[in-house]
Amino acid sequence: MDHGHVAVVGSTNMDMITYVAGVPARGETVTGESFALGFGGKGANQAVMARRLGADVSMVNTLGDDVFGDTTMANFENEGIDTAWISRVPGPSGVAPIWVEPDGANRIIVVPGANALMTPEGAISALKGMAEYQVVVGQLEIPQEVTLAAFQQGRKDGAITILNPAPYQELLPDLVAASDWIVPNETEFAGLHPQGLLPESDAIILEVAHALGTNLLVTLGESGVAATLPNGTVLRIPAPTVDALDTTGAGDCFVGTFAAGLAAGLALEVALTLGITCASESVTNQGTQSSYPSPARAEEIMEQVLQSFSAP
Ligand code: RIB
Repeated sequence: MDHGHVAVVGSTNMDMITYVAGVPARGETVTGESFALGFGGKGANQAVMARRLGADVSMVNTLGDDVFGDTTMANFENEGIDTAWISRVPGPSGVAPIWVEPDGANRIIVVPGANALMTPEGAISALKGMAEYQVVVGQLEIPQEVTLAAFQQGRKDGAITILNPAPYQELLPDLVAASDWIVPNETEFAGLHPQGLLPESDAIILEVAHALGTNLLVTLGESGVAATLPNGTVLRIPAPTVDALDTTGAGDCFVGTFAAGLAAGLALEVALTLGITCASESVTNQGTQSSYPSPARAEEIMEQVLQSFSAP
């Protein structure tokens, strides 16, 4: 099977995760249960998951000249990700303090550091320098102008463009126009809806897809995903029932899997099923990238999903 090539133009962060019974109120100090330092950043997470599913992955990013930059670079190399398009600049790398409560829900603050110093020119020259790629993925933890330049270059190169509008901010109209798929979660979807409605029905989802003029893929947590189809309907894939321990990075796991699925030429329903299966498994483990299926487990999941679609 040819797994294809995914280019991720996006963020890297060092995640600083505290597991706590309840987050402190203003002016309050509380004692946490445990702490973990891990590799994160929406772009990096998506790149790692796509790679674990067998895709060739190139990461386009800017790291600081600190120890977090060094270890992030080493992490990408260990994962087998192409780092030729990662530059280093003086100053701090991105960091993300995260709090996770016992039901697995999280609160995240992102401090972009070097991510904010990425440039449109850098993204264009990286993509031009790559061998053929089928998919380019972006998020909103780097300047939107950089994602826009990357998607416009991706379009010229015949790639599918996938935008994860997270964390939500108003989108540049040209970026929407250059996106083949927009993949929000429920909160981000409300940001995209003119009246701030949640994706509570197919009609509401189709209304936003129609207004944006793109395909929309809404991640609905334990309710699975909803994807708009060219025939004007919505395809829903339910999520397996699991006990959530930590939901941090589950959306990124889904996006990375979906990108890998499209790069490998899988049918939409298969790529979505693969995505929801990997993301559901990730919430049963702690951490961000550390919670994702290993390459061996990802291969197993891929085989199971492919088999379920080929069974008579
Ligand atoms: O989506 C989870 C990610 O959001 C974390 O890895 C954190 O770094 C922030 O980017």
